[in-house]
Amino acid sequence: MILPIYLYGEPVLRKEAEEVPEDYPNLKELAENMFQTMEKANGVGLAAPQVGLALRMFVVDGNGLAEDYPECLGVRRCMINPEVVEESKETNVKDEGCLSIPGVYEGVKRPDWIVINYLDENLVEHEERLEGFAARMVLHEYDHLDGKMFIDRVSPLRKPFIKNKLQAILKGKNHPDYKHCALR
Ligand code: NI
Repeated sequence: MILPIYLYGEPVLRKEAEEVPEDYPNLKELAENMFQTMEKANGVGLAAPQVGLALRMFVVDGNGLAEDYPECLGVRRCMINPEVVEESKETNVKDEGCLSIPGVYEGVKRPDWIVINYLDENLVEHEERLEGFAARMVLHEYDHLDGKMFIDRVSPLRKPFIKNKLQAILKGKNHPDYKHCALR
């Protein structure tokens, strides 16, 4: 089932999300719906707050990026109650976008690699090291669980340039062609 994607301005995107309880009903179905919703919108990641649920889970699929970023090949994951346990001091800057903030793409500084602990959609625990753009995708989604968005991490010099685009989304302009939910 395709879920509506909540756009910039919706309060749920700024909430601290809650841990997913182990007895959460239809968890696998929710994960499947999130994968479908992400794919339909041509995204590489989608966090539960982006579909209106303040829950600590997200999906990513880097396979479509593997030509440019080979480290993303095969990185299709549902991560529940994730915890970043280690991250590199070394960082890199690459452009990011977000299905909740259509039309905005800006450089964001992120660690070169991370180690992350999480439960998959079958509630099996994993600890995994991810590098490069795979680490970036996961950290972008991880931020959503704390009510953060990539625009918060954009350099102050760039902020004036995105302000108008954000205002437009709030005013109901430049909305995407995928199913969405917005203030206006
Ligand atoms: Ni996002």
